[in-house]
Amino acid sequence: MSKKIIMDCDPGHDDAIALILAGAQNSSLDILAVTTVAGNQSVEKNTKNALNVLEVMGRGDINVSVGATRPLLKPASFASEIHGDSGLDGPKLPEVPALKPTQKQAVDVIIETLKQSEEPVTLVATGPLTNIATVLIKEPNITQYIDSITIMGGGTFGNWTPTAEFNIWVDAEAAKRVFESGVRINVFGLDVTHQVLATDQVIGGFREIHNPIADFVVELLEFFKSTYKTHFNMDGGPIHDACTVLYLMEPELFTMQHTHIDIEHQSLLTYGTMSIDLNDVTNKEKNAFFATAVNVPKVWKLMNKMLASYGKNNS
Ligand code: BDR
Ligand code: CA
Repeated sequence: MSKKIIMDCDPGHDDAIALILAGAQNSSLDILAVTTVAGNQSVEKNTKNALNVLEVMGRGDINVSVGATRPLLKPASFASEIHGDSGLDGPKLPEVPALKPTQKQAVDVIIETLKQSEEPVTLVATGPLTNIATVLIKEPNITQYIDSITIMGGGTFGNWTPTAEFNIWVDAEAAKRVFESGVRINVFGLDVTHQVLATDQVIGGFREIHNPIADFVVELLEFFKSTYKTHFNMDGGPIHDACTVLYLMEPELFTMQHTHIDIEHQSLLTYGTMSIDLNDVTNKEKNAFFATAVNVPKVWKLMNKMLASYGKNNS
């Protein structure tokens, strides 16, 4: 039976790849809704990108709803230097998407979808946690309908400040609220996402699949590789957000450590830093499963299989 998920995202190259993998014909995940949030770019641009990606996937059946325009307490800040001015630079996409977002707000859609589902739903969050925190603030009892919150964010080191990762840094207050929710949380931070680098060799493998979706992913990864080279001197773009859905499909790809995680939100120097008690020094109640290792060859194998399925069935 398929696992029901809601994808809360800010596409974004790696968000787009997460959507493509989760929405593949042979996926064990069932996307009930896509919701967008300000992050990599404005929520308008991220929404446009989500709609265009779903169109490319041939998944116009999945509804997209617009979420928060800015973090809970801060002004918005974007990652144009990593994802470009459109938020999804690289492939040529329509200026006006063929698909349209729903008239409903993301937070309301998340609440309604959770309540209507016959089984608990996993919230997959691959952008700042503003929408998810707002859901929890608005309806604290909603946690009973949530299977897990599976996020890309944080890590034991940073990419936006020396100690803070972008998604957590954008809205640390929201992240703190999520980590205090009592829901099962699976965390894919930079410790593992920086191991799954789409290098020339990896991209070459996807190029050999020869279907339009794999070609689209190749274009995304080529752009991502170039900005990661310029800004981080890395030899490939990390497929960060895709780790969330790959884990939900095949949990054994990752080693998870049950631990206590808290979010710093008061310090100027370390705002948005994830404090991960891997050595159990605080003895505080464990509130998250943090990914400490990843089986890299198996990740590429699974990704290859998912992308190849597009040529066979949908698109
Ligand atoms: C995260 O930040 C965004 O730029 C990516 O889409 C990913 O979600 C990586 O730090
Ligand atoms: Ca993202």
